[in-house]
Amino acid sequence: MSQKVIDLLNKGRSRELTAISQYMSQHYELEDSDFGKLAAKFKEIAITEMKHAEKLAERILFLKGEPTSKPDALPKKGQQIPNMMTTNMVLESTAIKLYNEAAMVCAAEQDQISKELFEDLLKDEEDHLNYFENTKDHVDKLGAAYLATLAG
Ligand SMILES: [Fe+2]
Ligand SMILES: [Fe+2]
Repeated sequence: MSQKVIDLLNKGRSRELTAISQYMSQHYELEDSDFGKLAAKFKEIAITEMKHAEKLAERILFLKGEPTSKPDALPKKGQQIPNMMTTNMVLESTAIKLYNEAAMVCAAEQDQISKELFEDLLKDEEDHLNYFENTKDHVDKLGAAYLATLAG
């Protein structure tokens, strides 16, 4: 089995662990400031990232590697909603870039299952990026009127 693939799976896992702690931290901040609907959506996305981290760990263990428990960055705290979206767009974009590259390496290493795993994750990350971009766009264009729809 390829050490290159194991390293990429762990790199992905570190990225997922960062996303989980970032989105959960934002979830608590948004709950605290009464943006309940947005908070719930962030929690839902964080749970998807937890499932990603778990799938990556399962594949690493199958390949006889050791799943990392280290995130690759610290969560940003105390951001305004538009800045949260920008932070999250960066997280999703870097994951998308990494997973596209990783899928190609897996193909070269003839590891079809790991390749499919990265491709599955990519679908979710593209949805997440789209959601964060659209939300930022709405907040930028509509301001307080749109923010009011995210409260509750
Ligand atoms: Fe993810
Ligand atoms: Fe994501």
